[in-house]
Amino acid sequence: MVRLGTVRTVIKGCGGYLPERVLTNADLAKMVDTSDSWITERTGIKERRIAAEGELTSTMGALAAKAALTDAGLAPEDIDLIILATSTPDQTFPASAVTIQADLGITHGAAFDMQAVCSGFVFALATADSYLKSGQFKRALVIGAEAFSRILDWKDRSTCVLFGDGAGAVVVEAQKLNGALTDRGILATCLRSDGRYRDKLYVDGGPSSTGTVGHVRMDGPEVFRHAVTNISEVIGTTLAQAGYVSSDIDWFVPHQANKRILDGTARKLGLDPERIIITVDKHANTSAASIPLALSQGSADGRIKQGDLVLIEAMGGGFTWGALLIRW
Ligand code: UT7
Repeated sequence: MVRLGTVRTVIKGCGGYLPERVLTNADLAKMVDTSDSWITERTGIKERRIAAEGELTSTMGALAAKAALTDAGLAPEDIDLIILATSTPDQTFPASAVTIQADLGITHGAAFDMQAVCSGFVFALATADSYLKSGQFKRALVIGAEAFSRILDWKDRSTCVLFGDGAGAVVVEAQKLNGALTDRGILATCLRSDGRYRDKLYVDGGPSSTGTVGHVRMDGPEVFRHAVTNISEVIGTTLAQAGYVSSDIDWFVPHQANKRILDGTARKLGLDPERIIITVDKHANTSAASIPLALSQGSADGRIKQGDLVLIEAMGGGFTWGALLIRW
């Protein structure tokens, strides 16, 4: 609910990082039985980035975080909370967030990882919003960083063509505002999960099961079947909380899994296709990194401006899904 005379979590800056190596659909067609036309028609993906050897989730996350701090005009010591959304941490523990914290030279506050797969950034930003509103922390770095190339089965054409590596980050700050809908900041959040579907998109390994890292497995059509319905439902709830309708949205910045899901959601909500930030063609699905990467792209190229109403949403393994409405 929007509360009057309350603390708002305001976006101060954002940044992104993509590894240098580009892997095209044509490259993939030399590795598995696939084609540029199949990948393009079914997903909208043309290429993706792949992390270099030694380039870790924390390496990419720290670079995105530094770019976001520069964009915000803030220094690392201004940050007292780091939440890293990732499903591909450097190690099982410690959290990769503490590696980023050390890389930034921050020794105060707290840093932890959050795991909600492709919904990770939405969950992490909603969590930061709660901490900032509670007064426990003042400024947070919320990062999505993934090295999915390391958990793909490169012989499985049904999954290896879909994902890419990268990182994005936003800096958020608690500000005391009037509580008006025109005030900047996060206006409404809605998080959901339903563990009955945990075997539809998962990794077939882990510390307490196999003792191995495992590979991504997905029942793609089943995930697709739930995606548009779940996403539309959570967007409706989020907009209703703030008293808005879909035609009020200036920029729709969805998780970038499949262009067909983005188009289907936009159609269902009656959103103007010109108002959607799309990166899936160039980045593929970078899981928790996809939304902050798209936000940083849309903000850097001048599309997303201060005062715009921005809606972000994601759905991923679990299933988990959620949405946030932000006055930029
Ligand atoms: O970020 C988390 C959320 N994840 C998602 O939102 C992903 C949701 N799912 C999807 O995006 C789509 O289901 C996929 C893109 C994964 C697959 O598209 P689809 O239209 O559902 O295709 P399908 O899995 O039903 O496969 C159709 C055909 C099959 O062949 P047969 O059985 O019809 O002969 C597959 O074996 O396409 C085949 N196929 C491929 N062919 C060429 C599957 N992968 C490939 C491939 N290249 N890479």
